[in-house]
Amino acid sequence: MRDPLSPADRAKFIAARGALSLVESGMKLGLGTGSTANWFVRLLGERIRVEGIDVVGVATSSRTADLARKVGIEVMDLDEAGWLDLTVDGADEVDPALNLIKGGGGAHLQEKIVATASDRMVVITDDSKLVPHLGAFPLPVEVIPFGWKATKAIIEELLEQILVGGHAVTPRYAGQEMFRTDEGNYILDLHLRQIGDPHRLSPLLNQVAGVVENGLFLGVADQVMVGYSSGEVHQM
Ligand code: 5RP
Repeated sequence: MRDPLSPADRAKFIAARGALSLVESGMKLGLGTGSTANWFVRLLGERIRVEGIDVVGVATSSRTADLARKVGIEVMDLDEAGWLDLTVDGADEVDPALNLIKGGGGAHLQEKIVATASDRMVVITDDSKLVPHLGAFPLPVEVIPFGWKATKAIIEELLEQILVGGHAVTPRYAGQEMFRTDEGNYILDLHLRQIGDPHRLSPLLNQVAGVVENGLFLGVADQVMVGYSSGEVHQM
């Protein structure tokens, strides 16, 4: 019989299923955002239904909260939950040191808050996200709408000073409108090709007035589960 999942979706599903084995009854879980994290949320819902395990989830976006409730997961605010045992989330890029680019879905602010309020962050991904150096994927930066064009100009000037040309900063759109995050902010995507020193770049970006948070997750992930369409899962 033909597999109803595309090879990419199968690999995401395999990674999510791998992370499901880390969940124990009684845990407070951070629930990531995106197509890979959605697999985890659906599988967790199924496990709750079949095995009756007792877990609560803190969602990293309104989209994830909606899906989690739909599949029967009790959803709590982070402030209500306090500290989390485990966060499971996807990524746009993963380097060999487990540094990440996230925010392709525009949720990296809540994702970073939730991941850093957890004992452990496990990334689930297919192998297409593994890179030797971060930066081919545009780096998302969340900025407040007030004066965003001035914020963009200052980021461009900063990149000019610290990088060798060839970069671009583009506002993210959803159709004709500027994309809005759950906080009502905008996203600027930084097309950098390669980030030489992410540890230098991240604080410089976050120091710019108007920047809320960038999508570099440095030293945040504890483990990466890489799914393959063949059904294998490798751990990093
Ligand atoms: C959302 C994210 C996602 O985790 C990232 O974009 C990966 O998404 P997907 O699993 O759909 O490839 O950071 O802000």
